Amino acid sequence: MKAFWSQTARELSPYVPGEQPRIAYLVKLNTNESPFGPSPLALEAMRAAAVDTLRLYPDPEAQELREALAAHHGVEPEQVFVGNGSDEVLAHAFVALLKQPKPLLFPDVTYSFYPVWAQLFGLACETVPLDDEMRVRVEDYRCEAGSIVIANPNAPTGVALPRAEIARLLADHPDIPVVIDEAYVDFGGESAVPLIADHPNLLVVQTMSKSRALAGLRVGYALGGVGLIEALHRVKNSFNSYPLGRLAQAGATASVRDDAYFRESCARVVAGREAMTRELIRLGFVVLPSSANFAFARHPARGGPEFAAALREHAVLVRHFNKPRTARYLRITVGTEDEVRRLIAAAELILGHE
Ligand SMILES: Cc1ncc(COP(=O)(O)O)c(C=O)c1O
Repeated sequence: MKAFWSQTARELSPYVPGEQPRIAYLVKLNTNESPFGPSPLALEAMRAAAVDTLRLYPDPEAQELREALAAHHGVEPEQVFVGNGSDEVLAHAFVALLKQPKPLLFPDVTYSFYPVWAQLFGLACETVPLDDEMRVRVEDYRCEAGSIVIANPNAPTGVALPRAEIARLLADHPDIPVVIDEAYVDFGGESAVPLIADHPNLLVVQTMSKSRALAGLRVGYALGGVGLIEALHRVKNSFNSYPLGRLAQAGATASVRDDAYFRESCARVVAGREAMTRELIRLGFVVLPSSANFAFARHPARGGPEFAAALREHAVLVRHFNKPRTARYLRITVGTEDEVRRLIAAAELILGHE
C-alpha cells in the first residue's frame, strides 16, 4: 500500500478532525460549529450567485470580500488576506512567516494542527507549558524564538488572554513574526486587531466557521501589515490561485455586511455558554473560564474517555483529546437550548443523579 508514498507522506502524523456523524439524531457538540444558521442575507447572496457565471473562475483576489472585511475591522483592503478556512490561512502563515531559522513557539496545550503544520513544512518548534490554571503566561515566551503562534482564546481550553498581555508579548518580541489565531474571539475575547497599526510583525487570523456559522463554506482570513499580507499572497499564489469559489465569496461578503445578525447570534451563543456552564457546575464538573463557543470541563468522578464514550451511548457527541494534560477533560460545544438539555440529561443519567 505504501510503496508509492513519498518520504514526506510516510513521516506525517496528520491532524484528526472531530467526527462528522451521518446519524441525524445525534446531539453534535464536538466540533465547535454554531448551533444557529448563517445570516439569511448570506444564504440569499449564495443563491443569487448560483447562476451561469459559475462556469467562470472566481476573483483570485476576492476584492469585494476583502473590502468588506477591511471596513468591518477598520483596516485597509491591502491588510486583508482570505483563504479556504483559517486552517489554510494558518498553513500559509507557517510557510510565509513562521518558518524561521530559530524555533517556532506555541503553548503545550493548544490547537493540535500547529505541530502538524510544523512537521509538514519542516519548522523546528518548541512548546511552552501553560500554567497550572491552563493560562498562557507571556513572560514564559522570553526565550530564543524565531516566531510565535498563540490561539486567543486558546483551544481547546477556551481561556482568553487580555489584549494588554498580547501587547506585552509583542513588546518582548518586536523582531519576530507573531501570529494570533482568533478563531473564537467573537464570543468574549479581546481582539489584537487594534495592535496591528503599531506592530508590523503581528498577524491576526480569524474565521467565519464559528461566529458566522459558515463552517461549511470554508472561509478564513488574516489581518496585518501589508508586508506580512504580501508574504501570504506569495505562498497562496504558489499553491492555489482560487482558494475561495464564487459562492463562498458572495456568502462571506454578505455575512460580513450583516452586522446585526452577527452580533445577535454571538450574544445568543454567549448566553447559551453561560447557561450550559451553570448546569455543568451543578452536576459537579470543573469548568475552565471560557471566552469561546465551548466549555472545557472535567468531572472528578469520571475519566474523560469514559465520560465521552458514555455520552456517545446516549447519542451525545463531545470532543475528547487523549493527551497528558487534557485527558481528563471534555470539550463541549455550546448547542441549542434543546441540545444542551439533552446533554445535561445524559450526564445526569451517567452520573446517577435523580
Ligand atoms: C484554534 C483554531 N484555529 C483555527 C481553526 C480552523 O478553523 P477553520 O479552518 O474552520 O476556519 C480551528 C477550528 O476548529 C480552531 O479551533
